[in-house]
Amino acid sequence: MAYLTKETIKKAQTAETSDKKYTILLVDDEDLNLLSLVELLEEDYQLLTANDGEEALELVKNSSEPIHLIITDQRMPNMTGVEFLKQTLPLIPQTVRIILTAFTDVNVIVDSINEGNVYKFMIKPFEPKDMVVTIKRALEAYQLEVENHKLIEELTKLNTDLEQKVEKRTEAIQDFYHFISHELRTPITVIQQYLRFLQQGMKCESPSDNQTAHLKIVDKNANRMIKLVNQILNLAKIESEKAPPLFQSLHLNPLIQNAVEQLRSLFKPEVTILTDLMIPEQPVRAVGDDLEIVLDNLISNAAKYTEKGAVHIKTEPMDNGIQISIVDTGVGIDESQIDQVFDQFSRVGDLRMAQGVGLGLYITKVLVEHMEGQIGVTSKKDEGSTFWVWLPLA
Ligand SMILES: Nc1ncnc2c1ncn2[C@@H]1O[C@H](COP(=O)(O)OP(=O)(O)OP(=O)(O)O)[C@@H](O)[C@H]1O
Ligand SMILES: [Mg+2]
Repeated sequence: MAYLTKETIKKAQTAETSDKKYTILLVDDEDLNLLSLVELLEEDYQLLTANDGEEALELVKNSSEPIHLIITDQRMPNMTGVEFLKQTLPLIPQTVRIILTAFTDVNVIVDSINEGNVYKFMIKPFEPKDMVVTIKRALEAYQLEVENHKLIEELTKLNTDLEQKVEKRTEAIQDFYHFISHELRTPITVIQQYLRFLQQGMKCESPSDNQTAHLKIVDKNANRMIKLVNQILNLAKIESEKAPPLFQSLHLNPLIQNAVEQLRSLFKPEVTILTDLMIPEQPVRAVGDDLEIVLDNLISNAAKYTEKGAVHIKTEPMDNGIQISIVDTGVGIDESQIDQVFDQFSRVGDLRMAQGVGLGLYITKVLVEHMEGQIGVTSKKDEGSTFWVWLPLA
């Protein structure tokens, strides 16, 4: 093999303009080794050369071109190849690194993989053909790494954009929540209040049957609007809820008894309310405010959709938790429609029977699942329904 001169190395080192895509830094203290590498690679690559780690580090720091690949000898005076590569890591992290070592340097191989982030080590003397193939593969790996890096950057940016969008939307939902609560709920409450004054005042003035009936209609509709506004508020609340639930240890019996008392007036006179609650009761893990909404929705549904018979509310231990069942002898739900009842704005059966918007069960299911509980229904048309909620023990 005809070895190249030191001038050739210099030429390789200072090659300025080139259409060669990749720049390789060759580091070896023996000129002869360096020359053979230059001869092998100069046609296809832009080359930089250095005789020791110090000089090579200077080149890395001052190079105006990106260095894509470093091939370094291990045994050099002052600084070993692994030591040199280690120092290049923070400067040019994406560069691919190859180390040339004698067969006996087993420890070097281990060190180079662990410390120098080395792509490959090659045993000296190497076969030129092997070296050419290894470099090709190494640069392909470099290209892949660069593209991966770009993709990850793009993905991270997309992700950040998306998070910002979600945050903005959440803020919009919160604004909507405040709008509803102040601009709608307040005036309806005022209407209801003045309605009460009117009704009280009229008692003394012996109103006509018509007047009494008209006021009752206004009252009923104001109530309906308040209920609707409350459902929308619940919906806005759960849509904007990102935080994990603030779990409490809760006793179900007083919560159920309280809900029944609050809703007793909704039941038809032909319907008996029965409660069969576990005594002594163990507390469940749930969120008080959410559980109140859940009980309110399920018990008021039982009241709305039951014309006669009974509504039976019971609790029983089940799989390390407690199951609440609300069993009614109401209109029931057709088998073909049972899967839809938990969907948003879904109303099934005879819609003239009771007023509603079809949000209650949707909200209920979201809240139960947010509390890591479970909910379900079994029903038979014209016979009745059982809605159940399972919550884990505290
Ligand atoms: N206990 C029940 N018996 C029979 N049908 C029921 C019962 N509970 C719910 N359903 C059916 O499921 C539908 C959805 O119930 P959901 O509570 O979501 O809405 P809603 O009661 O119509 O309105 P609101 O949003 O005011 O609660 C109801 O319209 C009704 O058809
Ligand atoms: Mg309902």
